[in-house]
Amino acid sequence: MLTGIKLFDMRFNVLTIFPEIFNVLEYGVISKTFDNNNSIKCYDIRKNAINKHGQIDGKLYGGGEGMLMMPQPLKDTLFEIPESERGHVVYLSPQGTRLTQDKIIDLSSMQALTILCGRYEGVDQRFIDKYVDEEISVGDFVMSGGEYPAICLIDAIARNLPGTVGNEDSVKNDSFSNGLLKGPAYTRPEIFEDDQVPDVLLSGNHSRISEWKANKSLIQTYLRRPDLINKVKLTKKQKKLLEELESKDIL
Ligand SMILES: C[S@@+](CC[C@H](N)C(=O)[O-])C[C@H]1O[C@@H](n2cnc3c(N)ncnc32)[C@H](O)[C@@H]1O
Repeated sequence: MLTGIKLFDMRFNVLTIFPEIFNVLEYGVISKTFDNNNSIKCYDIRKNAINKHGQIDGKLYGGGEGMLMMPQPLKDTLFEIPESERGHVVYLSPQGTRLTQDKIIDLSSMQALTILCGRYEGVDQRFIDKYVDEEISVGDFVMSGGEYPAICLIDAIARNLPGTVGNEDSVKNDSFSNGLLKGPAYTRPEIFEDDQVPDVLLSGNHSRISEWKANKSLIQTYLRRPDLINKVKLTKKQKKLLEELESKDIL
């Protein structure tokens, strides 16, 4: 868990052939991250092409469809960043470890992160072996480039950096922060198309409300992501609720 104490400003370096894609980070709460002395800098891999045609990719040895990013332009781009400012080097890749909130929290405590966005069929293995510290996947599907996965990563990390989200409690109470999903939430009006906001939320009784929220969170997780339940150390109360749910079929 983040302590809320931040001793340094975080630096993101991004290696990409499409730096303009990262302009989306200028929108919403995430834009505040970079007003708060954290920094993001994109390095254009194409500037280190092997010829005047801007070539950075080559055919695969041994055959196979498509093209692969060549190691030399990647190395030259990485070396534009002083070694002391590179920090942890991540390659976004479908072969990486699946991204989780725990990993986001880990990465949020780093001083610098260098993120490589692949394109085409990916990246020459020799570059990965030599210069990449960790491969991360955003899910079991294949995207056409690492830029959007990188934006997912940066956005999720930035949310945890103090000062990005106005109310730090909202980050602390996010889904996954205690291993569970968040339960349902309601806003005005009290009645929408005959559906009423649950009475307890209008009761003003804070302990009943927080018990209701905790129970709903557990139920939501049990129904939608039972795999998460097994990873959480449940309290006696939670175990009892789950047993009731299973036995009385009150879902
Ligand atoms: C078209 S993909 C290459 C897929 C590769 N041929 C394969 O089957 O694993 C091009 C780039 O998109 C990025 N990418 C695609 N899917 C991703 C995922 N699930 N997580 C992270 N990055 C991904 C990677 O940077 C990858 O190098």
